[in-house]
Amino acid sequence: MASLSTLFSSLLTIALLSFSCSSQFILPIEKDPLTNLFYTSLGIGTPQHNFNLVIDLGGPILWYDCYKTYNSSTYKPLSCDSKLCPGNTGCTGCFGPFKPGCTNNTCGANIINPLVHATFVGNTGNDVLFISHSKVSNILSGCTESEVFTGEDVPLKNLPKTSKGILGLARTKLSLPKQLSSHNNFPNKFSLCLPSSNKKGLGSLFIGEIPKQSSSFKFQLTTIPLIINPFSTAPIFSVGDASYEYFIDVKSIKVGGEILNFKSSLLSIDNKGNGGTKFSTMNSFTLLHSSIFKPLVRDFVKKASDKKIKKVASVAPFEACFDLSTISRTKTGLDVPTIDLVLEGGVEWKIYGGNSMVLVNKKVACLGFVDGGKEPMTAVVIGGHQLEDNLLEFDLVSSKLGFSSSLLLHNARCSNSDQANFSLISME
Ligand SMILES: *[C@@H]1O[C@H](CO)[C@@H](O)[C@H](O)[C@H]1NC(C)=O
Ligand SMILES: *[C@@H]1O[C@H](CO)[C@@H](O)[C@H](O)[C@H]1NC(C)=O
Ligand SMILES: *[C@@H]1O[C@H](CO)[C@@H](O)[C@H](O)[C@H]1NC(C)=O
Repeated sequence: MASLSTLFSSLLTIALLSFSCSSQFILPIEKDPLTNLFYTSLGIGTPQHNFNLVIDLGGPILWYDCYKTYNSSTYKPLSCDSKLCPGNTGCTGCFGPFKPGCTNNTCGANIINPLVHATFVGNTGNDVLFISHSKVSNILSGCTESEVFTGEDVPLKNLPKTSKGILGLARTKLSLPKQLSSHNNFPNKFSLCLPSSNKKGLGSLFIGEIPKQSSSFKFQLTTIPLIINPFSTAPIFSVGDASYEYFIDVKSIKVGGEILNFKSSLLSIDNKGNGGTKFSTMNSFTLLHSSIFKPLVRDFVKKASDKKIKKVASVAPFEACFDLSTISRTKTGLDVPTIDLVLEGGVEWKIYGGNSMVLVNKKVACLGFVDGGKEPMTAVVIGGHQLEDNLLEFDLVSSKLGFSSSLLLHNARCSNSDQANFSLISME
């Protein structure tokens, strides 16, 4: 039998939680071991259907697969003449019986899967969403009937087997954080803590402030400006659109404490929108312009050999690979030369072994950076592996990014924090 004091304290906890949680949402994040992509789970429609959705920091909308037999009695299509309709997505119609994905005079949705070199048509509509244990109404999203597409390129191509759409978190009017913050009157902010594996638990996506009772709340964040690239980096855009992806101003890169020598103008955004540094959770590993990648690998291999680390044959897609038995370990992962992104004001984002190295088999560890070729639009695309076990806060009110650096420095990870609390930290 529970004692009265236990009962009282749990009632108090529940009261405190519901009081302090009125302005946040929290979603669990898992890593798919086959694709290395990250996904979350939420419910859509009436009756509620649960969808696994891949997290895409650079994605403009939430979209899901409203396959042939999917229906929802609370679905309302967005009409083509609505102010909220982006305008460059066309207007769709359908002859079949009414259902999500088959409606008339409906604002089109650009269904983008960055892993496919095509975009797909879909419908924009609003419906109820179930996030943690809260129900929210009137959330606009895109839906596409995936069976309509045949051939090489289909909307769900290369996504984890269980995922049926993408949760885009980019700087757009229709992104989920933006819609939730305007409906619920809280600041347009979200934080991401991507897990390096699912073994110890789940990572988290916090929409709104990080709840005080979350174990992530205690980490100090270093704040830097988020940069807007005035030229769109999207597959579909109107002339004059700025990019809705998140860029930061990296000034230089260090390997093992020494500045890497390359044409530094690659790090700035030129008058066509080329260059600069952005984030992408749809790239598993950081992509570097060849003119940065080559010197980085050269210097890293040299500094590693100074540490008596033995180089072995390359394992694609990586170039610099090493005999694991010659590398010692530290609390931040394998003891390899650090790679530092030097930001405005000399602030450094240090990338330790836990984020730079990838174990490709039991004997070989490779530097987890990939050659992005000679003409990528963006010179540095920071990928998912480099973001794992780091807490990142995207504050779109002040256009700032807060980052924790590796949580391993604090003996913490993104995957050992909040799972027991996901049900408690759920908001109205
Ligand atoms: C979908 O649900 C709506 C509303 O409940 C209903 O009017 C419609 O006929 C259903 N469509 C299909 C294809 O079952
Ligand atoms: C859309 O309009 C056409 C033409 O008026 C009609 O035949 C069709 O049934 C409508 N579709 C839906 C889903 O209501
Ligand atoms: C849940 O939150 C409480 C209060 O912050 C914390 O003490 C506890 O460790 C958390 N549970 C887990 C499993 O992290």
